[in-house]
Amino acid sequence: MKLADNKATLSFSNGSPSVELPVYQGTIGPDVIDIRKLYAQTDMFTYDPGFLSTASCQSAITYIDGDKGELLYRGYPIEQLATNCNYLETCYLLLNGELPDAAQKADFEKLVTNHTMVNEQMQFFLRGFRRDAHPMAVLTGLVGGLSAFYHDSTDINNPEHRQISAIRLIAKMPTLVSMAYKYGVGQPYQYPQNNLSYAGNFLRMMFGNPCEEYKVNPVIERAMDRIFILHADHEQNASTSTVRLCGSSGTNPFAAIAAGVACLWGPAHGGANEACLNMLEDIQRMGGVAKVGEFMEKVKDKTSGVKLMGFGHRVYKNYDPRAKLMQETCNEVLAALGLENDPLFKLAKELEKIALEDEYFVSRKLYPNVDFYSGIVQRAIGIPVNLFTGIFALARTVGWIAQLNEMISDPEYKIGRPRQLYTGSVRRDVPTKR
Ligand code: SDX
Repeated sequence: MKLADNKATLSFSNGSPSVELPVYQGTIGPDVIDIRKLYAQTDMFTYDPGFLSTASCQSAITYIDGDKGELLYRGYPIEQLATNCNYLETCYLLLNGELPDAAQKADFEKLVTNHTMVNEQMQFFLRGFRRDAHPMAVLTGLVGGLSAFYHDSTDINNPEHRQISAIRLIAKMPTLVSMAYKYGVGQPYQYPQNNLSYAGNFLRMMFGNPCEEYKVNPVIERAMDRIFILHADHEQNASTSTVRLCGSSGTNPFAAIAAGVACLWGPAHGGANEACLNMLEDIQRMGGVAKVGEFMEKVKDKTSGVKLMGFGHRVYKNYDPRAKLMQETCNEVLAALGLENDPLFKLAKELEKIALEDEYFVSRKLYPNVDFYSGIVQRAIGIPVNLFTGIFALARTVGWIAQLNEMISDPEYKIGRPRQLYTGSVRRDVPTKR
């Protein structure tokens, strides 16, 4: 970042001395007012719950232009990456800043492929869960538990440890997610197959079984890989900020990523794809497209607490570019599976059409986000609804790691420790007679 030819002056109506604050600019996007010395100079904090106007860090990984509906990973538009690259190339890009050449791509794929197995002890973690445990509860435990097996690489300040932890996490997430699924359906775990692609291997571990050979459907394989790409990173969203804050204490990468998994689970964040599919199924049960108008009235009635899941975004005030690509993937997969007339897809498109013409949504700049169509395509592939967020966590692991590594490599980083506006009781004594 560099100093802008601009300064901010903070003046106070009570006659306190005004303060000059430097302004910094990045390569693209809004400038920032550097308030790091504000408390020392004014004995006051800034106040920004939800961080609507706060940049928590500087980053070179992902850029989002919410007004244009633009998403760049290391400068490359998501549309081009989703069309011309695969997920492991995207992982390499997010971690290293450049797309891999042929040799780097082959080395990276080999490295990831050779770390896909988990320690045999991991299966005994699962046995502690009820079979009907939510996969995100299982995954939060499994990812945190990984740190118990890799004492040789938990020093986050050691670049080699960060590198091998990144490979292990990227490689093992598909194995762990499929184990959580298999445990829930009472089927045996499938070991990774090194001759399959990253997405193909995941599909086989999910849907393969010991009784017959599993054949990877190339259309589904490509769709799965694209879903991973679309979810790989997204700037300083809630779970990434959680990973950064957790990692800033110096804890090991596995624990920091487990914190990200836990945060992503929430329905306002990564849990929205599961909530969106459940919402579509509820409307379908109530009568489908004929009931959309009634449902929309509930959404617009604040007292109902009903939201149009998969719609709206803190940053995008235009169409989420990932939602467009996800809708395309939906079309491809449904056509490949002969499900063009999938009633939920029709319902989703009708909901979108009505919402985009409705003043309530237009005035609030609410558009479909990445979660609006992702559930429909995952359901068509055969992924159970309660596993959608687990797939999101699998794909986002590389983004979390890249952001964590970027923070740790920044010489200016400190442990994150926000302050507060205190509104509780002033000092008082415990009554002697109670
Ligand atoms: C993800 O941050 C990221 O980058 C996240 C993510 C990523 O890749 O990491 O993109 C992934 O989390 C996508 C978002 C998935 N969540 C959902 O689809 C849940 C439904 N969406 C909302 O909960 C909401 O839109 C948020 C949480 C996504 C954003 O909330 P904000 O930015 O805090 O906005 P807001 O709640 O203040 O909404 C502004 C207005 C409010 O109405 P008013 O107070 O102005 O009258 O819009 C309304 C909200 O009530 N609103 C909605 C709505 N989303 C916002 N009303 C109905 N349905 C919705 N979905």
